[in-house]
Amino acid sequence: MKRVIVAIDGPAGAGKSTIARRIAEKTGFVYIDTGAMYRAVALWALRANVDLSDMHKLEELAKAAKLVFLDGGAGMELNGENVSAEIRTPEVASAASKVAAVTAVRRALVEKQREIAANASVVMEGRDIGTVVFPDANVKVYLDADQDVRAKRRAQDLIEADTAKIAKEIADRDKRDSSRPDSPMMQAPDAVYLDSSGLDLDQVEEAILKLIRDRTSNGKEIH
Ligand code: DC
Repeated sequence: MKRVIVAIDGPAGAGKSTIARRIAEKTGFVYIDTGAMYRAVALWALRANVDLSDMHKLEELAKAAKLVFLDGGAGMELNGENVSAEIRTPEVASAASKVAAVTAVRRALVEKQREIAANASVVMEGRDIGTVVFPDANVKVYLDADQDVRAKRRAQDLIEADTAKIAKEIADRDKRDSSRPDSPMMQAPDAVYLDSSGLDLDQVEEAILKLIRDRTSNGKEIH
């Protein structure tokens, strides 16, 4: 069987990472969290005091960044340092959204993302996977959930009591991510829209596994 690409896009807190990781475990495909790549570049920029509007410097960092996924994609190494925890702060999330609006940064990271999937079947999650990175992906899902559900989930992840603060942070980020000119967050026309608000993880997982089975086992789409 040829390489299979499963693209999962959607806003912050929709449950993409958890689901993508579970799908990767079930299928044996490689799990790729592209947001972690933008976060790692943002972390480097913050540490190096690079102005987040300095496109040239940001491009240099994105090109030079040595990014290695750890622990089956759950962790991230930046230039030899394990930054898995450091990239998860709200400050880095917000910086990642800003850095991700820079075309040259996107170009550098999309190239790395395509390289990773060159010889492997992947479950790749982000904002532009089904639209830009892999427009020919075998399976495309746009995973969404109500805003308050997403804020609560994110607050739980971060062990942050102030859900209203988190709600504002993700609303700001979603607005920036969906309104940027280059590769804005949006549903690909051929993506399946899945609202996870009222579903548990098993139900979302089963819906996506069914799509993968339908699209890959009958030989119609995999040659
Ligand atoms: O998925 P995440 O929350 O870890 O992503 C962090 C930021 O990175 C997000 O706000 C926008 C950006 N991003 C992007 O622009 N394109 C992607 N494919 C993945 C993330």
